[in-house]
Amino acid sequence: MKILLTGGAGYIGSHTAVELISEGHDVVIVDDFSNSKEVVINRISEITGTQISYHRLDIRDTETLVGICRDEAIEAAIHFAGLKAVGESVEDPLRYYDVNLGSSVSLCKAMVSLNIRHLVFSSSATVYGEPERIPLDEECRASDAANPYGRTKIIIEQILKDMQLANPDMNIALLRYFNPAGAHLSGKLGEDPTGIPNNLVPFLTQVAIGKRSELVINGDDYPTPDGTCIRDYIHVQDLARGHVAALAKLRSDCGVVTYNLGTGQGQSVKEVVSAFERSTNQHLNRRIGPRRPGDVPVSYTDPSLAERELNWKATLTIEDICRDAWHWQQETPGGY
Ligand code: NAD
Ligand code: UFG
Repeated sequence: MKILLTGGAGYIGSHTAVELISEGHDVVIVDDFSNSKEVVINRISEITGTQISYHRLDIRDTETLVGICRDEAIEAAIHFAGLKAVGESVEDPLRYYDVNLGSSVSLCKAMVSLNIRHLVFSSSATVYGEPERIPLDEECRASDAANPYGRTKIIIEQILKDMQLANPDMNIALLRYFNPAGAHLSGKLGEDPTGIPNNLVPFLTQVAIGKRSELVINGDDYPTPDGTCIRDYIHVQDLARGHVAALAKLRSDCGVVTYNLGTGQGQSVKEVVSAFERSTNQHLNRRIGPRRPGDVPVSYTDPSLAERELNWKATLTIEDICRDAWHWQQETPGGY
C-alpha cells in the first residue's frame, strides 16, 4: 500500500517508516519539521536503501495536502503529526488545540475528499487519566485526561469516530501508546528531544553521557512497592510493528477499532534506573525529588486485545530499550 505518514520525520514516525518499507509498503512523509530535522529522511533512506518521498508542509494547509495525496495516489494514512509536551500544553493550551485538532481535521477533510479509507491515529494512554482499574484495557473510561495535550487526544478520537459514522466505508485504528522508548538497532534513529527531556529514558541517557549532572526521581512516596511511579515502557521498534499490524487489520473493513499498545509489564522509575545500569554498565547519579504534578502512580496495559486481533505482541524488554537508547545517545551525542 502507499501510505501517507503525517509527522513521519518524528521519533515514532521515522521508526514506523522503516518498518513499513521493510514490509513492502511505499511511504510518503509530510512533516513541517517543527519538532524534527530533514536529516531524518536521509537516515530512513540509508537504513532501508530506498529513496523517500517527502514534503515539507504544515498539514493544516488542507489544499496543499489534498494535492500531495492526489499526486502521490495515497491509499492510507498514519497520523503522527502533532505537539506532545504535556507541560507546554498547560502553558499554551490554544496552540495545542490549534495544531493537534487543526491538523487532524485537515487530514480528515483531505481523506474524505479523495476517498482515502484507511487511517491509523497516534493516540495515547494519557486518555485514561486517573486509571479506572489496572491493568488498563480498552473498555476503561477514556474521557478524563489531566492536561490539554491529553484532552486533544480524547477530542481527536471523537472527531475520527464521528467522521467514520458519516463515512461508513472508512476504517480507523486508534492506537493508544503507553510509554514509547528506545531507538533503532542501527543507532541511526532515535528520540531527539529539544532542550531538557520531559521523558525518563532520554533523560537517563543524557545523564549517562554527561549532558545532565543527575537524574531527579520525581517522588518515592507513591503507593507502589518501591515508592516510585510505574509505567509500561514499549520499545519503539515494537510500536512501529504495531502500526503495520493495525494497517493489515484495517484492510479487513473493521470500522473503528481501538488498541492499547504496551507490553503489559509495569516498571518503576527505580527499576528502569537499575535496568539501565545493568544493561549499559553506566552509573547514574540520582537523587529523590518531589512528586511531579499530574503523574499517576501506576499505568500499564492489558495487551491481550491487540495480541488477539492484531496478532501483535511486544517482544523487546526494558533492558533492550535501555541498551538501544544508550547506543543511539552514544552514536548521536549532539542529536541529529
Ligand atoms: P515527534 O514530535 O517526534 O513527531 C511528531 C512530528 O510531527 C514531528 O516531526 C513534527 O515536526 C511533526 N509536526 C507537528 N505538527 C505538524 C503539523 N502541523 N504539520 C506537519 N507536521 C507536524 O513525536 P513522536 O514522539 O514521534 O509522537 C508521534 C505521535 O504519537 C504524536 O501524535 C504524539 O502525541 C503521539 N504519542 C507520543 C508518545 C511519546 O511518548 N512519544 C506517547 C503517546 C502518544
Ligand atoms: N521521571 C522522573 N524523572 C525524570 C523524568 C521522568 O522521575 O527526569 C518519572 C516521571 O515522574 C514518571 C516516569 O518517570 O513517573 C515516566 O515519566 P515520562 O515523562 O517518561 O512518561 P509519562 O508516563 O509521564 O508520559 C508519557 C508521555 C505522554 C504520554 C504518556 C502516556 O510523555 O505524552 O506517556 O502514553 F501521554
